Amino acid sequence: MQIHVTVNGQETGHEVEPRLLLVHYLRNVVGLTGTHWGCDTSNCGACTVWLDGVPVKSCTTLAAQADGHAVRTVEDLDAGGDLDPLQQGFMEEHGLQCGFCTPGMLMTLRALLDRDPDPDEATIREAISGNLCRCTGYENIVRATRWAAAHAAAGAPEQEVTA
Ligand code: FES
Ligand code: FES
Repeated sequence: MQIHVTVNGQETGHEVEPRLLLVHYLRNVVGLTGTHWGCDTSNCGACTVWLDGVPVKSCTTLAAQADGHAVRTVEDLDAGGDLDPLQQGFMEEHGLQCGFCTPGMLMTLRALLDRDPDPDEATIREAISGNLCRCTGYENIVRATRWAAAHAAAGAPEQEVTA
């Protein structure tokens, strides 16, 4: 089947198998490998992307479900040439070790900060309850998010929702 997806503001159009998962579409067809594939069972959250501005797990979303919709991936966070404050926060507060969970964490937490610019620790921990980190105790991820909340002046690039 033919699908047309707006990925990070760019129109894409491809012939795909109806069963193709969105994570594989993004990584193997579009070539954006920033989105990770960790469990394939909707448990780890490494594959989190935005679909029309809402975080979804792309391992349990069909590419066909994104047809006519807008997807945002981790590659778009520094689309303006500057790191998103959340990415800066992960650097400043050592929010990652191996980094495998990081793309999903970033997309989940960017969405949180967009709806709640100053979340408390409990709110942050609840937001990432669907994102597993095999490396850390989440402490630095929470600190990185608080850092981003305190340094939000640069702002995040707006995503144009076309569908
Ligand atoms: S790969 Fe999607 S939730 Fe783990
Ligand atoms: S930094 Fe390694 S899984 Fe999170």
